[in-house]
Amino acid sequence: MAVLQVEGGRKLFGEMRIHGAKNSALPLLTAALICDGETILENCPNLSDVDYTIDILKTLGCTIEREGSTLVINSSNAYGSTVPEKYMQKMRSSVLFIGAMLSKCGSARVTYPGGCELGPRPIDLHLKSIGTLGVDINERHGKIDCRCVGRPQGAVITLPFVSVGSTENAILCSVKAHGTTKILNAAAEPEIIDLCEFLNKCGADVRGAGTGTITINGVNRLHGCTHRIIPDRIEAATYMSACAVTGGRMRLTHICTENIQPVLYAFRESGCTVDLDENSLFISAPKRLSRIKLVKTQPYPGFPTDAQAPLMSMAAVANGTSIFIETIFSDRFKHIEGLTRFGANIKSEQSVAVVEGVEELYGTKVYAPDLRAGASYIVSALSANGISEIDGMVHINRGYENISENLNALGANTQIKEE
Ligand code: EPZ
Repeated sequence: MAVLQVEGGRKLFGEMRIHGAKNSALPLLTAALICDGETILENCPNLSDVDYTIDILKTLGCTIEREGSTLVINSSNAYGSTVPEKYMQKMRSSVLFIGAMLSKCGSARVTYPGGCELGPRPIDLHLKSIGTLGVDINERHGKIDCRCVGRPQGAVITLPFVSVGSTENAILCSVKAHGTTKILNAAAEPEIIDLCEFLNKCGADVRGAGTGTITINGVNRLHGCTHRIIPDRIEAATYMSACAVTGGRMRLTHICTENIQPVLYAFRESGCTVDLDENSLFISAPKRLSRIKLVKTQPYPGFPTDAQAPLMSMAAVANGTSIFIETIFSDRFKHIEGLTRFGANIKSEQSVAVVEGVEELYGTKVYAPDLRAGASYIVSALSANGISEIDGMVHINRGYENISENLNALGANTQIKEE
């Protein structure tokens, strides 16, 4: 198992180029299955979840070449309609292959997806949405068999609450449906906009992305296109947190200054200076952070749930008490146990966490239970007094490209040890 060793107490200085967004790359790669011909995806991050998605695409008959951060996918002869369980288990976004395979060939055989354990993560909304499009769905012994006669049928899909993945699956399943599909109470995340812009470049007719109502007029076929993946707003927030807790100064380049907006108030409230220009951000941290009065996670453009854990590490060493309310996932405070081992003073009850900032954290050994908990432990380890070891790099590598090298280039002292 790979373990990240971190020497705490070193200020971070310098420049970091933000990578393409994991949560955009995964649905875009999945959508490429539907295209006849060659698709070129630029700015694709080098992450294990991307590798798993590439494995699935190859299993379905796609050819894929990678040149740095550019992927060339050809799905002309990809008519597979079964994703093996070993791949479904690897990550949550494998569930999106249901919609893509139904659009490609009218059938999809999968099992339940894996992914970060943030409380129960059912796929009932995915299946209900797809069922509304005239697809027969049979679930038996953990296997899910979806088929439709010919193509899916356009319909009105009303999501009872905002779900990013269900919105994406409904879009993927309806792009080549007969007639028009409307998704009401759709997610408006930047990654949804990126997916719809990609699909429209491929010949789809998707309108309203970024609003609560998305309309999809089914088309006969999708061709390939060239598309640049948007910057990763969560990676940016994570490196900003690392800068904030070390009292450092950092420039983040190749960001999207619009989609990073929902987290900026928290950094400024904690005493950081944050300045933006065209596609970069400059952050400078005070010697001691101030508390963040309230972090309440919400669907975009609210505060992103994926940034909740890294920012809790900031609050853990701030002067004063910060309140966190997690409204998206029922069990996304798993990182509190590890933060407490660093010496943080945090009390949580259901969806609320009260963080009493302490003067200093101490190096310790922790195990990352999920991707963003791992990110929060790295942030805490950078500020802690002494050496820390973070087990569970397998989770962290799913969402952060070369994090150890990137941090060391900014003045940190980290190393990956195989144990
Ligand atoms: C996506 O997950 C992201 N993952 C998550 O990022 C992100 O936290 C989440 O959206 C919210 O923004 C990817 O894009 C690969 P949801 P997703 O459907 O689609 C419930 C990370 O760290 N729900 O918006 O799975 C669900 O349990 C990951 O990068 C149902 O009940 O999230 C949750 O409580 C973590 N039934 C809420 O909806 C369903 O069928 C929102 O989940 C689907 C979801």
